[in-house]
Amino acid sequence: MPEMPDLDVTRGRDGSEAGCFHLIQISDSHLTADPDGWLKAGVRPEARLARICSALVEEATPDCLLVTGDLAHDGALDSYRRLARLLAGTPLPWYVLAGNHDDERTMRGFFGESLMPRRIQLGPWRIVLLNTAWPGHVDGRIDSRDGVALMEALVNEPPVPTLVALHHPPVATGTAWLDAIGLAGGDQWAKQLTDTPVRGVLFGHIHAAFETVVGGIRYYGAPSSAMQFVLGRPDLVIETAWGGWRSYRLWSDGRIDSRVHQIEFEEGI
Ligand SMILES: [Fe+2]
Repeated sequence: MPEMPDLDVTRGRDGSEAGCFHLIQISDSHLTADPDGWLKAGVRPEARLARICSALVEEATPDCLLVTGDLAHDGALDSYRRLARLLAGTPLPWYVLAGNHDDERTMRGFFGESLMPRRIQLGPWRIVLLNTAWPGHVDGRIDSRDGVALMEALVNEPPVPTLVALHHPPVATGTAWLDAIGLAGGDQWAKQLTDTPVRGVLFGHIHAAFETVVGGIRYYGAPSSAMQFVLGRPDLVIETAWGGWRSYRLWSDGRIDSRVHQIEFEEGI
């Protein structure tokens, strides 16, 4: 099992933004069982993720890194081992949650609860991780235990600013084929979050930069580190020229600023 990172964050690391916490989201790395493997779209997911991890080391001073599913393309244990090595090369505490391409049981066996927690505390921010991977299905369902724990926390605990992370988009993306494989019952679930301390919801699966506001809550979709889906098309269209990640500035007063970072990839990677 990888070493547990030490997360004891009470203020922003860079010191220049007191009261601001910096979270990085990587998503949908789709590592293959073979370290030199290619995806059908003609990209090398591991080389792309390695490039992104290097960029994080050089450019960012985040407090925490979260990987929101589809770590592996086919759920192979070796993919998780190699992903752990890549992430261990960044100076960040990191955590993962499962996507539809992952084998959640294999992930839990390898990463353990310490790297697949159900909750992270980042300063005043409560970050709740929900499992939505449902074996044998491309669409998502919220794990009932996770769903109940979230709602109980929102009702019974002090109303601290809260961010929810999951793999499947809970809101409409305007892309019919993608919405058909999003979070089942997502609209209803999103309605329950209105007037709670939830300030934002972040997800993967969408392989695109996406942002919307529903019921006063911001919803953020992250690009894939490997390949993007072109939104708004009737069928799947994949763009391979870049990979990316999202960063979030979480302010102590509950505000969120987020932006997408892109790395252009040349042919052969
Ligand atoms: Fe994916």
